[in-house]
Amino acid sequence: MDVEKIRGDFPVLRSGVTYFDSACMSLKPTQVIEAQDEYYEEYSGCAGRSLHKLGKKTEEKFEEARQKVAKFVGASPNEVVWTRNTTEAINLVARTLDFSKKNKVITSNMEHHSALLPFLIPAKQGTLKLEYVLADEEGLTHAEDWKKKIDEQTRLVVVHQTTNSVGTRAPLKEIIKAAHDNDALVLVDAAQGVPHVETNFRKLDADFVAFSGHKMLGPTGTGCLLAKAKLLEELPTFMVGGETVEHVSLDSVTFLKPPQKFEAGLQNYAGAIGLGAACDYLTKIGMRNVEEHEKKLAKKLFEALSDVGTKIYGPAEVKNRSARAAFNVGKARPHEVAMMLDKIANIAVRSGVFCAEPAMIHLGAPQGAVRASLYLYNTEAEVDYFRETLEKIVKLY
Ligand code: ALA
Repeated sequence: MDVEKIRGDFPVLRSGVTYFDSACMSLKPTQVIEAQDEYYEEYSGCAGRSLHKLGKKTEEKFEEARQKVAKFVGASPNEVVWTRNTTEAINLVARTLDFSKKNKVITSNMEHHSALLPFLIPAKQGTLKLEYVLADEEGLTHAEDWKKKIDEQTRLVVVHQTTNSVGTRAPLKEIIKAAHDNDALVLVDAAQGVPHVETNFRKLDADFVAFSGHKMLGPTGTGCLLAKAKLLEELPTFMVGGETVEHVSLDSVTFLKPPQKFEAGLQNYAGAIGLGAACDYLTKIGMRNVEEHEKKLAKKLFEALSDVGTKIYGPAEVKNRSARAAFNVGKARPHEVAMMLDKIANIAVRSGVFCAEPAMIHLGAPQGAVRASLYLYNTEAEVDYFRETLEKIVKLY
C-alpha cells in the first residue's frame, strides 16, 4: 500500500494538518469529490420519477451506487437501505421492529449513544425491556456474558463491531450464534467497523448492520442499513412519503417493495454516488491492506502514548485494539490538550466523551479523554510528530 500516493488523493492534507480524527469524520479523496461533482455538474436529476435523460441517468447512477455498496459489504442490493447515517439506520430498526411478542433488548455499556438511545427511550416509556452486558475494566465484552443475558425473551441484541471510544471489538460470531439459537435478532453497529476491516454481511449473518458513509471516505449525510431481505419485507414503513408508494388514494395506500419502501422523499443522490466511489476507492486499495496498515500504526501509537506517560484507556494488549487511542495527560483537561495539539502542532484529535458517556464513565474517564483515531492516509512519521508534540505538552503539566 503506497501511503504517499494515497495521501496525494486527499486535498485536505495539503493544508499540512496531521489528521487524527477519522473515527469522527474521515477525509474524502478527490475520486469521491469528483463523483459528487459529476452528479451536480452533468445530470443532477431525480431518481424514480422523471422520464427525461437526466432523471434516467440519476436513477442509473443511484442504483449503481447501491450495487457498489452492496458488493463492498457482501450484501444484495435489495438488502441496502439508504439512510443519512448510522443513527438513522438504528432508529429505523428501533421504530419499526415489532416488540409486542418479545420485548427484551440486550446491549452493552460500551455502545455509542446512537445505538443506546433509540432503545433507552422506549425502555423508559415501558414499551421494551433493556438489559446490559457490562464490559470488563479494559472495555472488552465477553461472549459468556452475552450468552448469559440472551434468552428466549430476547427480541434483539444491539452490539458494536468496534467501539468508537477505545476501538475494542465485540465477539460477534458467538453473540450472533447465541441470539439465533434463542430466536433473537442481532443489530450490529458497524460505524467504526466497516471503514476499517473487511466486513461481509452474508458471512457475518447478523440480521441488521448499520454504518455511515462519512467515516469511510464517503460524503456527509450518507449511511446504510443492511437488513436480511425477509426482514425488510416484514418491517412496516419508517418515514413515509413520495417514492415509498405504489398507489395512493384518499383513504388507502400500497407501498413499494423494500428497500424503496424505506426511502421517503428525494434522496441524497450525490451522496450515494459519492459513497459508491468511496467503496470503489477502498476496494482498489484492499481492506486487508487497510487493516495491516492500521495495525502497524496502532502499535506505534500505543508505544508512543505509553512512553510519553499518558493514561491510556482500554486494553493493554495492542492486538485487542484498532488504530485509535483514548488517553489523558496528567490532570490536564482533555479539551485543553486537544486545543493545544491543534494550536501548536496542527494535529486534529477529538476530546470529550465521544458520544459514549456510559462507556467513558465505565472506563474511569467521566470527564472524557483525548482520542487519536487513525486511518489509511496516516503515516508512522505522523505518529512520531504526535509523540514529540505530546512530550512537550506533558512537560507543561
Ligand atoms: N461517533 C463519532 C465519534 O466517535 C461522532 O466521534
